[in-house]
Amino acid sequence: MKKYLLVAGIAAALIACGGNTNEKKENADASTSSSTAAADDKSKNPDYQKGLELIAKNDCLTCHKVSEKLIGPSYQEVAAKYENNEENVKHLADKVIKGGQGVWGQVPMTPHAGVSQADAEQMIKYVLLLKAK
Ligand code: HEC
Repeated sequence: MKKYLLVAGIAAALIACGGNTNEKKENADASTSSSTAAADDKSKNPDYQKGLELIAKNDCLTCHKVSEKLIGPSYQEVAAKYENNEENVKHLADKVIKGGQGVWGQVPMTPHAGVSQADAEQMIKYVLLLKAK
């Protein structure tokens, strides 16, 4: 009878590498109230904030970015094309809900039947605030 007393010493070995990445997130609260943004601080506009929130909750950002073309046009391009008025807000909200193609190319935007007219209009109000000027 051979007694193999295998001490499990090896197992207790490698717990030394405590990956403790306590990075200090120093969110520099530098409120850069610089010269250019004086009259036009759109991010404080409630339409901007609510619209952005809704856009983040939906799938819009899979296909749209603020300043670069992705699958769809960038929101800045859209904002540059359409005047920010009630008619355009309604029209574009309708397009988001129903989907469509042909304005920016042959790639279609998928319909968003689950989005309410009010929410869609809110998102468009945000988009149209992104006008460069
Ligand atoms: C599957 C990709 C995709 C998703 C998701 C998507 N879009 Fe689009 N979007 C497009 C494409 C492609 C176009 C260009 C359609 C065209 O040429 O008529 C477009 C166009 C637009 C336009 C301009 C419409 C016009 O007639 O000029 C707006 C505004 C817009 N999208 C907003 C949104 C919003 C808001 C959401 C989220 C609810 C969204 N999109 C989700 C692909 C997408």
